[in-house]
Amino acid sequence: MSEKKTIRLIITRQDRPDSAPYEEEFEIPYRPNMNVISALMEIRRNPVNAKGQKTTPVVWEMNCLEEVCGACSMVINGKPRQACTALIDKLEQPIRLEPMRTFPVVRDLQVDRSRMFDSLKKVKAWIPIDGTYDLGPGPRMPERKRQWAYELSKCMTCGVCLEACPNVNSKSNFIGPAPLSQVRLFNAHPTGAMHKAERMKAIMGDGGLANCGNSQNCVQACPKGIPLTTSIAALNREATIQMFRNFFGSDEV
Ligand code: SF4
Ligand code: FES
Repeated sequence: MSEKKTIRLIITRQDRPDSAPYEEEFEIPYRPNMNVISALMEIRRNPVNAKGQKTTPVVWEMNCLEEVCGACSMVINGKPRQACTALIDKLEQPIRLEPMRTFPVVRDLQVDRSRMFDSLKKVKAWIPIDGTYDLGPGPRMPERKRQWAYELSKCMTCGVCLEACPNVNSKSNFIGPAPLSQVRLFNAHPTGAMHKAERMKAIMGDGGLANCGNSQNCVQACPKGIPLTTSIAALNREATIQMFRNFFGSDEV
């Protein structure tokens, strides 16, 4: 009788935000075309570990299932990436799943990415609009610039670039590459430019541009191919101009 094909997973688990992490191994039946999410769903359906002991279902987050929301980000075989696009057939076994350590662990593979969302608030990563009356059509952007901006707008706040960056950790308040790149995006928008000086001020202080160590890990890790290091270099140039403006007493860049 032929042996049934299985998938081996070693998952780093943590029961509570303040409890110690531990590893648990699982062996689940193989099906063609599985991804890490479907493997985790199989464990949820039948939470029994590789020793045959009943255990608690593994906790993780997911939403879009098409690499758009960033919620399912975790460290898979040592690499931060999205679980929904990690195909089992392309992964070496045993497959190791760990939470992204840059963020506080909520439970198992679920992390709290508030740090990144708070940074987006700090840098005003939005276009201010007054919804009390009809503003009419907004200013038009030249097509080439719109296409360029679209590339930067693909950021899904997944946190992978922060996880890959050696300068983002619990001891540093560096906001990290993704929020910096969003500053470049919103500064370039004709309406967003109104808040350019405020955004620059936010990233010229503690935890901003100066905390980047230029390791270049972020740009290699980003699943959306966002030119993060180019954005940071462009912002450094803008920061120099802003410093001169500040020195000569003008708020405008
Ligand atoms: S810049 Fe890329 S890696 Fe960083 S949060 Fe956005 S999509 Fe994720
Ligand atoms: S579930 Fe949205 S990126 Fe994976």
